[in-house]
Amino acid sequence: MNDDAGGAEVHRVTRRPAGPDESAQANRVWWERAADDYQAEHGSFLRDTGFLWGPEGVDEADVRLLGPVEKLSGARVLELGCGAGQCSRWLRSQGVERVVGVDVSHRQLQHGLRIDEHTGLRVPLAQADVQRLPFAGASFDLVCSAFGGLPFVPDAEAAVTEAARVLRPGGRLVFSVSHPFRWCFPDDPGERGLTVEQSYFDRRAYVEENDVGRAVYVEHHHTVGDWVRAIAGAGLVLRDLVEPEWPEENPETWDGWSPLRGRLFPGTAVFTAAKPDDSADRDSRTGPATARTGLVPAVGAETEDD
Ligand SMILES: C[S@@+](CC[C@H](N)C(=O)[O-])C[C@H]1O[C@@H](n2cnc3c(N)ncnc32)[C@H](O)[C@@H]1O
Repeated sequence: MNDDAGGAEVHRVTRRPAGPDESAQANRVWWERAADDYQAEHGSFLRDTGFLWGPEGVDEADVRLLGPVEKLSGARVLELGCGAGQCSRWLRSQGVERVVGVDVSHRQLQHGLRIDEHTGLRVPLAQADVQRLPFAGASFDLVCSAFGGLPFVPDAEAAVTEAARVLRPGGRLVFSVSHPFRWCFPDDPGERGLTVEQSYFDRRAYVEENDVGRAVYVEHHHTVGDWVRAIAGAGLVLRDLVEPEWPEENPETWDGWSPLRGRLFPGTAVFTAAKPDDSADRDSRTGPATARTGLVPAVGAETEDD
């Protein structure tokens, strides 16, 4: 980093707007620096070959939010913000041959290569921003993400629209983010983290700035309604919103996520959405109002391709 840009040390924490480029740039640099510590601290919880939806430890092997994995064997799958690719590698281990992971941080991806080496399960990886995916439209049958990239974007609808662009009609988007409810509370795993300190409706980003006021870490808040509108606005159909409860058997604290808080309110939201195919489009033009808004009460529903 040059002198004009200032250093990487945090001088001030603030709430302020931060645009797509500033957010991606800050988070790329932050994750380059944090990747080694992140993998050292959380790697064994994540497992080299494991698909966890969030700090609760809810495991795709148990919950099957992507549907039966056997049915994905021929699917083209993209993981957004894959970090070291643990989720993609789990899919590979289950016989899903065509999985690609993208992440903005080169260092996170290098950890992916390191893990590939000793597991023998190779995941093709690319460095990319979830806000600008380097893939042609309709390239994937499934796009998934576990806290990858999407918690860090200012414009949820633009990012979901970009994910929807690379999905084929009939394909699915399944992603987890910090549960929006958390925004009211300080990111503290203890008692202080149970006290409302700021408005749920305050959309200004959480920004850590360096000595010259430049963002070195940015996290964005979108309410539940914002995510639902992002999905509907991207032309997808919302199938489910899963709010995992803290499992009794998980004693581990992960930053602000703890058993104490997890027993009282959700820490993770997993959204499941589908891109209508042509016949579904026709239905939505003649169907009920809920279909036209892109919102259907479809808990447990599956797409034609499931
Ligand atoms: C909390 S990690 C989640 C990764 C993985 N699922 C895991 O559990 O380790 C968040 C990841 O999002 C990536 N990320 C942040 N902003 C991004 C962006 N704009 N585009 C792509 N990836 C991004 C980070 O580099 C990081 O690897």
